[in-house]
Amino acid sequence: MILTYFCKKGGVGKTTVLGENAAYLASIGKKVMIVSIDDQNSVFEMFGKSKEVFNREDNFIEHILTNSITIDAAIIPIRENLDALKTLNIDMISKKLTLERPFEKEFVQMIKELDKKYDYVFVDLPPSSNRTSEVLFELCDQIILIVELNKLGVNGFYNTLQYFTDCGIELDKIKYVLPNGFSKMKSVPSVALEEIDVITKENLRNANVLKPIPEKANIQTLQQRGISVFDLDTTGLNPYQKNQKKILVEVFTELFETIKF
Ligand SMILES: Nc1ncnc2c1ncn2[C@@H]1O[C@H](COP(=O)(O)OP(=O)(O)OP(=O)(O)O)[C@@H](O)[C@H]1O
Ligand SMILES: [Mg+2]
Repeated sequence: MILTYFCKKGGVGKTTVLGENAAYLASIGKKVMIVSIDDQNSVFEMFGKSKEVFNREDNFIEHILTNSITIDAAIIPIRENLDALKTLNIDMISKKLTLERPFEKEFVQMIKELDKKYDYVFVDLPPSSNRTSEVLFELCDQIILIVELNKLGVNGFYNTLQYFTDCGIELDKIKYVLPNGFSKMKSVPSVALEEIDVITKENLRNANVLKPIPEKANIQTLQQRGISVFDLDTTGLNPYQKNQKKILVEVFTELFETIKF
């Protein structure tokens, strides 16, 4: 099963939710892989594994694709049942995918091999449009659109649908639209939520709008410490942060139990 959380707008929570979904599935015993197609490799940060991005220069997915390393040798363990792969230069991969047919074959074969090896393969994409993402959208069994709950977020949602249509990406692969950053205290998210409902109904016959993720500063605190919401070890967090983490476990567990792959 190959999956992604996507929006063409940057900083809307793609990596955060994808990483937590992967961690949740790993915590219930599934074998999970995160392929970081974003050459910022920011997903490693939220698991406290940024060092792993820089400590070796011979185990990027580019090295798998040029057959200078095996998949197994390139894998970076993240947590029990959870592994990841890192990318060096997305623009170079995209250029090669555009210019060299055999390279596309190698790339697709690598993703299919990962699909065989793992119960779930999450691809963490950058917000930009590029050939690599387009090849991956083709391979994805499901795409979850994530939308930031404000005016610019809604515009980003609309642009993403336009981009999918222009590229011929099947809109039926979108089963869920996930609003992120809900706050009961502000009116902007409620207005945005209504707009998301309307756009979804008008454009995505297969999709449901999920219950929004609340805006929680603690998400950032945990990420800075390299702690996932589903980590049991909370050493270093103060009692308030531990309590906030418990709330996040509830929020994300409810969300990931709702999403059916
Ligand atoms: N519900 C939320 N409440 C508070 N902060 C959040 C929430 N969701 C995400 N964030 C924060 O927003 C920032 C951007 O999140 P993230 O990196 O997951 O977005 P992204 O869409 O992957 O970005 P990019 O487009 O750069 O890949 C991070 O600092 C993250 O901690
Ligand atoms: Mg990201």
